[in-house]
Amino acid sequence: MKKRLVSLLTIIALSVSMLVGCGGASDTTGDSGNISQNTTDTAKKTASEESGGDISDKKVGVCIYQFSDNFMTLFKDELKSYLVNKGFSEDNILIVDGQNDQSKQNKQIQDFINDGVDVLIVNAVNTSDAASITDMAVGANVPLVYINREPDADEEQRWQDNKWNVCYVGCDARQSGTYQGEIIADLGKSTVDLNGDGTIQYIMIEGDPENVDAKYRTDYSIKALEDAGWNVSCMADEVGNWEMGQAEQLVADALAAHPETEVVFCNNDAMAIGALKSIEAAGRTVGTDIYLVGVDALSEALQYVMDGKMTGTVFNDLFSQSHSAGDAAARYIKGSKNDHYIGCDYIKVTANNAKEIYDSIN
Ligand code: GAL
Repeated sequence: MKKRLVSLLTIIALSVSMLVGCGGASDTTGDSGNISQNTTDTAKKTASEESGGDISDKKVGVCIYQFSDNFMTLFKDELKSYLVNKGFSEDNILIVDGQNDQSKQNKQIQDFINDGVDVLIVNAVNTSDAASITDMAVGANVPLVYINREPDADEEQRWQDNKWNVCYVGCDARQSGTYQGEIIADLGKSTVDLNGDGTIQYIMIEGDPENVDAKYRTDYSIKALEDAGWNVSCMADEVGNWEMGQAEQLVADALAAHPETEVVFCNNDAMAIGALKSIEAAGRTVGTDIYLVGVDALSEALQYVMDGKMTGTVFNDLFSQSHSAGDAAARYIKGSKNDHYIGCDYIKVTANNAKEIYDSIN
């Protein structure tokens, strides 16, 4: 695992130098700071992980919004193995599937509290319900680490104002959207504007409507093209709920209605893989007469990027995020504090670096 982390940090460093080299690295991460600073922070965090203190009898309750989500399945598996490596007993790591149902998840959280867990790690079904989740945990004096789906600013402010043991670990989705747009912009307008009409015709396939990742990736991918001075025209903007099958159908319909489409943006790789099936079924060829980008860097998607079947993706670093979440949980258990926001950087992935990322995570 250490080897994997070291190679990931190497890739981050390489990517930073590549971005600086081509002048494409605009920092859209707001408060989360610049990439090299965050990389250093990640390295520091990894190097300074506290040891000592027996945590083998401590219980962790992990709530995942939906096990059938490809990315969250990888995330929870990595989280579990990291927690075991940190000294938690496997029997004391309890992971449950919210099945995309907030009332079910609320009950799971309450059950964990009744069961006496020492810390909660929660991937909320609906972040709009975060305040009541927080209230449940704080009311029972159980520290809480939110992962992947970020509660809104007012909610985060409450944790800070009240000095509660509640924090969020995740990435800033604006950066992933920007990187998607930049992957396309870096190809050059004359390459992407296949019909030469001066405008880029695109299809957008979104995650779920409630999710800030979906909103930001949708907005910022297009903003990156506009910032590059390109005219864009949306052919279809549909909700695929992060799912391959839904995206496949949506893209099939959109391509049939709008054969002039030049770019397909998908908010994640599962949907991009679904989109690819429909692109191929329509007799189109990525890299020749259409372009396709996703987010996550699932192994299958990285393979497609290497094979030229996807234009690019954005690495959503589940290793850094799950390890930071595990570290934050352990720190709470040991009586220490955490920052209320623990960030992580995305990495832009094209055919140039897909193999390095693939080798690091497999
Ligand atoms: C995103 C990820 C998606 C999906 C979503 C769930 O960060 O890119 O694939 O897992 O989280 O909230």
